Amino acid sequence: MRDKKVGVWLIGALGSISTTVMVGALAMRKGLVSSTGMVTASECFNGIDLIAVEDLEFGGCDIRKGTIRESANNLLWETRVLDPRVLGEIEEDFVHVQRAVKSGTSRNSGEAIQKLDAITARRKKPLREEIECLSRSIQSFKKENELGEVIVVNLASTEPPLDLQYCHYNLAAFERCLDQNEFESVRASTLYAYAAIREGCPYINFTPSNGALTPAMVELAERESVPVMGNDGKTGETLVKSALAPMFSYRNLEVLSWQGFNILGNMDGEILAHPQNKESKIRTKDQVLSRILGYSPHSKVSIDYTPSLDDQKTAWDFIHFRGFMGAKMSLQFVWQGYDSILAAPLVLDLIRLAEFAKRRGEAGLMPQLSSFFKAPIGVNEHRLSEQFRMLTNYLNNVRDVRQGLQLVNKKGDACR
Ligand SMILES: NC(=O)c1ccc[n+]([C@@H]2O[C@H](COP(=O)([O-])OP(=O)(O)OC[C@H]3O[C@@H](n4cnc5c(N)ncnc54)[C@H](O)[C@@H]3O)[C@@H](O)[C@H]2O)c1
Repeated sequence: MRDKKVGVWLIGALGSISTTVMVGALAMRKGLVSSTGMVTASECFNGIDLIAVEDLEFGGCDIRKGTIRESANNLLWETRVLDPRVLGEIEEDFVHVQRAVKSGTSRNSGEAIQKLDAITARRKKPLREEIECLSRSIQSFKKENELGEVIVVNLASTEPPLDLQYCHYNLAAFERCLDQNEFESVRASTLYAYAAIREGCPYINFTPSNGALTPAMVELAERESVPVMGNDGKTGETLVKSALAPMFSYRNLEVLSWQGFNILGNMDGEILAHPQNKESKIRTKDQVLSRILGYSPHSKVSIDYTPSLDDQKTAWDFIHFRGFMGAKMSLQFVWQGYDSILAAPLVLDLIRLAEFAKRRGEAGLMPQLSSFFKAPIGVNEHRLSEQFRMLTNYLNNVRDVRQGLQLVNKKGDACR
């Protein structure tokens, strides 16, 4: 059991998902909304002692000026799915959270992100100093709110891919890069991950940015006994893909082409309109199909920014496949959703599960969370049903261990 409160440190605190996470959690605390959409609220979690969403304290950092209230109002007008009455009821709580929002870093995050940076862009600190600043923000959040644990979630804009070199595969070599201020070897997400793990905070990379959880960072997490997981939350088109693609294998139907067209209109879409940033997203989306089918059909994923859509995302997928006697047939689907509404409950799930893993003494990657990610690190399984089985197996093991302990305790009692 926990004897102290748990905090959540959101990187990209003023963004759409972060705002929806906080609005959702604060509204749940007041009994204003339900937990629909949260995996951890489903029956298979019965008897698992996860922290209640209502008990989480929020803080975080961003590189833009603004307030959470402004972000929430923007979302309200964009999506119309946030209820203005709910926002009115939690307005006071925003004031408290706003005090815990600090400035972050956009170090080597590419032109698109650096343009957003109204706070830190012109300052170029040595890397160790930059990490110290990030660590201090987490430490003061912990101290001021008397928190026993802080879970860090990366919800910042997608960075361009980082070219992984030897130093990203080896912690000692990476630490030398930091000492020598090799700015090009890190992105902002790398510095955040390093600072969080060194502070003993479980770290979730919900973004496709590959600079965050490099193998060196996973090594650090193992050394510091910190659970970590990423990359890129699986919320929409890829979720459907990972549920649907296995069907073609089960029925021995040959997928010839799988074309996916995505249009979205929020700030995430605006950043992803930049070719370098888009490349990160396409890489995490692209690997799913060939891993599931065992071959690579003709396939293309496109992502286009369509401003008038705001937080709405539409994906149209066209699947061309071959059946008996060579007959060619097709399947199409259209997925329409609100990006942040789909993502926020999963972020809350990941926070609860990461806190639980830390309490159980788990360290390094959390493969049980693979169903939440487009590109789960260290996991080759991409079929949604099998990934979900990994989660339920994990829960069953937790229950078995607990029952085993209860049995041992009972036997011990009988002997006394
Ligand atoms: N919405 C989804 O369904 C979904 C699914 C998977 C992954 N993601 C990823 O989650 C991330 C957040 O999505 P969003 O829709 O909230 O985006 P958003 O553009 O609304 O918010 C991103 C926030 O991060 C801030 N930011 C950018 N760089 C930063 C840095 N270096 N440090 C601190 N703050 C920084 C921005 O100022 C902005 O407030 C994106 O990387 C997105 O690709 C989203």
